[in-house]
Parts: sequence; structure tokens; C-alpha cells
Amino acid sequence: MVNVANLFGSQAAETSSFVSPEQELVQRHTNNEPGDLLYHLAVGDLSGLLACKSGAGKTTSLHYCLVEYHNAFPRGTLTVADSKGSGWLGLENCPGVVYQLVTDRPHYPESASELDPDTLLVASELVALSEVIDKTWRRYRDRVKMRAKRAKEGQPQPEFEPHLTVIDDWFGLLDKWNRFPPSVRKDLGIHNLTVKLNDIISRGRELRVRVLLITQSHLVKEVGLSGAMKESVVTVAQGRESEDEGSGFGSVQRLVKDHNVFPDEVTREALKQSLRFAIATVTNPDSVYKGTPVLASTQGKGFVGLADDLRWASDQNIGFSYMKHHPELSAKQRRLDAESSPPSPNLQSSQQVIEAIIRIAEHLRDDGQPKISASNVMQYSRAAEPTKVMDADSIRAYFPIIAATNIATIEGDRDRMLFVLNKDYRSADKAGS
Ligand SMILES: Nc1ncnc2c1ncn2[C@@H]1O[C@H](COP(=O)(O)OP(=O)(O)OP(=O)(O)O)[C@@H](O)[C@H]1O
Ligand SMILES: [Mg+2]
Repeated sequence: MVNVANLFGSQAAETSSFVSPEQELVQRHTNNEPGDLLYHLAVGDLSGLLACKSGAGKTTSLHYCLVEYHNAFPRGTLTVADSKGSGWLGLENCPGVVYQLVTDRPHYPESASELDPDTLLVASELVALSEVIDKTWRRYRDRVKMRAKRAKEGQPQPEFEPHLTVIDDWFGLLDKWNRFPPSVRKDLGIHNLTVKLNDIISRGRELRVRVLLITQSHLVKEVGLSGAMKESVVTVAQGRESEDEGSGFGSVQRLVKDHNVFPDEVTREALKQSLRFAIATVTNPDSVYKGTPVLASTQGKGFVGLADDLRWASDQNIGFSYMKHHPELSAKQRRLDAESSPPSPNLQSSQQVIEAIIRIAEHLRDDGQPKISASNVMQYSRAAEPTKVMDADSIRAYFPIIAATNIATIEGDRDRMLFVLNKDYRSADKAGS
């Protein structure tokens, strides 16, 4: 974490013994190196919220948190709920660690079979999410039971290894959940998603079970937590300069202005001032900090600071080391390998992939140039044939082949690759078939 106080320049420090409230706030925090805001979020004992707009450096910070968590607690466990099919530093190769919410669901619950296809897609994602929360909650509850049992038997209390569940894009998932009619949620068995989450957050601390929610908002109520959770989570908001002028700092600005989070007006004013200074620094074209993310945290009395350059974290592969410390996972992997015969995808050719894409495009009713991702195709194919799903990487492999037929162009790369249909894709398709 960069010491914002140093950025005030040496002159201020030399000519004045007066330390302004914002300097003090920043100094207090930046001088205890590993006490950096994100480090605290990664290895502290509270659950966390990382409120961050798209493009503000969320993935980078999250990767950093995962690396630091694993370094600090090599035997600690991790669960990641991912709704986008992103890379997770090799953890995706450790069985049962990363849940791809859109692919790890081989079948729908029986009760979902009457839903329309769109609702069904969301349903399966929410059911998978609910399984992740359940899994975390069971871990928490087992620990509660074990404590009670030990206490009853007069035995010493067990030392638990830390557990961290990360839910990426929690905000988006919660929004989908909120829009689901409660009766359907009940049928699907996902009605107490937030109840269990609140339970874990409020009482998981001493049992060393935590969650880290990645959201776009820091407001506990908006993110499905009860107001009482305020004390049980540490909230970090992160912003970074974005193309549409400064709007990338919205989450940080909202956090430091929030009366509920920082009831003390003096603190709030000091944080706001630090933040103004931090933003001016990272948006200044002449500054070495240009483009650096700005962070604000509720840790202690509240802090504002600049992130270090954490891009190195995204190049780490912690999956291997994680497996090494969790030998049971290797055994599980061998079992899975032995049990599974290669899946037979229902999409077996580029022609089938393009048909899927065109049907999705029609569904979107977008008269311009529909953009379609591999996960759209995957969800579509799953709705058609739930047990036979082609994975996103295989689908993406077809994109360039299909694009070569002039039906579309490709935007982005790797897991952000999008298939952008040409305006006249319908006639092109007819000509081609
Ligand atoms: N701590 C940092 N220091 C310097 N540059 C950073 C830092 N964090 C992120 N960046 C840069 O900011 C850009 C966006 O980062 P990142 O991909 O992590 O953001 P994101 O919020 O996940 O974006 P998206 O919403 O598109 O997924 C990248 O170019 C990244 O290298
Ligand atoms: Mg990202």
C-alpha cells in the first residue's frame, strides 16, 4: 500500500509539525506493512466485502488476496464460486475448490423442469451457488457441533484451520435471486441463501469460517446482509480511473460518505479529503501513480490508500501448492479420473455451434450486432441437453473457425472472447448452409 501521506510532499512534512487528520489516518495504516487493506481482507479474521466497479482492478486484487491467503495458511481451505468461467491461479485444477456456477451443474432439480428455458438457466446457476453456500455453512455448523461436543466432554477445544469462501459477482447473483419468485425459490430449495450467509458471517469468526463477497455495492442491505452484519464484515471499496471520467471511483466515494458506515463526521471528512487527494494523484498524467487503484476500508476507524502494483499476483499458480497441502484432493482427482469417461458434447461441430449462436441471437432480438459469449452457448446447450455440455474452452475454440466464414468477428481474447455477429448474419448463414 502506498502511503498517501508521503504524496503530500516533503515540504509539507518539513515546514509543519501539524499532522492533518487525513495524514494521520493514512500514516497510521500505511506504516504497518502487512496491515495493508487488501492483506487484511485476505488473512484477517472477519468476513469481507470487496466493492468494486467493473474495470477497477477487482480481478487483480482478488488474485492477490487468494495468493496471500494461501501463503499465510497453506493448510487453510478455499472455495470459490465463479459465474464467469475465469482463471483462478490453478485452483480450478483442484477438485471441489472452484465451482463454475454455469457448468458444474450436471442436472436441474426435478422441480425446475417446468420452468421456461431462460428461467431454467438462472435457476441452475442459483442452485449451484446455493450448494456453495450450503457447503460453507455445513463446515461452519460441523465446527459448532464439534465445539459443543468437546465442551460437553470436558476436552480442549479444537484448533480449526481457516476456511475462506469467495463469491465472485455476488451482487449480480443476488439480483437474480431477488428477482426469482419466492415460491419458485422454495421449490428449488434455494430459499434461505442469505439466511445461511448471514449466519456464517455473524458467527463464523471464532470458528475461522469466512466469506469474501465481491460486489458492486458496499451497502450491507443491498448485498443481502442484515444491518447487524456491519460489525462482522470488513468492507473495502476499490476504484480506478475509467474512461468515462472518474466514475470508476464511485464505490469508494460512496463508502467514505456513508453515515451508517462512518457515523463520526470528523472521520468522514478526513476520509473524504484523503480520497480527493488520492484520486487527484492517480488521475494526474504526470504522476507515477497514474492508473493505480484507490482503496478505502472500514478497518479500524477507516482508511484510504493507494494499492501497490499487484499485477504479479495474476501470474501466480497456487493450485499446485494447494493440492500438495491437501492430499485428499489428489485422491479425489484420481477417483474422478477413474470414474468419468470423456463427456460426449451435444455440440459436435462448428455447424452446431453456429446454429446455437444464431438461435441465441434470435432470442436476444437484437437488430444490431448481437454479441455472444462462450458461456451463452454453453448455457443454451445445457438447456437443450443438460447432461451433455460442451465446456466453454471447446466452444471458444470454434469461434475463430466460424468467424473465418465472414459471419462474425471476434472481440476480446481468452475467456473474454465474444462472438460479434455481422449485421447480415442471417443471410450469410443461409448462403453458407
Ligand atoms: N494494483 C494495481 N496496480 C496497477 N495496475 C492495476 C492494479 N490492479 C489492476 N490494475 C490494472 O487495471 C486493469 C484492470 O484490472 P482488472 O482486470 O483486475 O480489473 P477488473 O475490475 O477485474 O476488470 P473487469 O471488470 O473487466 O473484469 C488492468 O490493466 C490491470 O493490469
Ligand atoms: Mg475481472
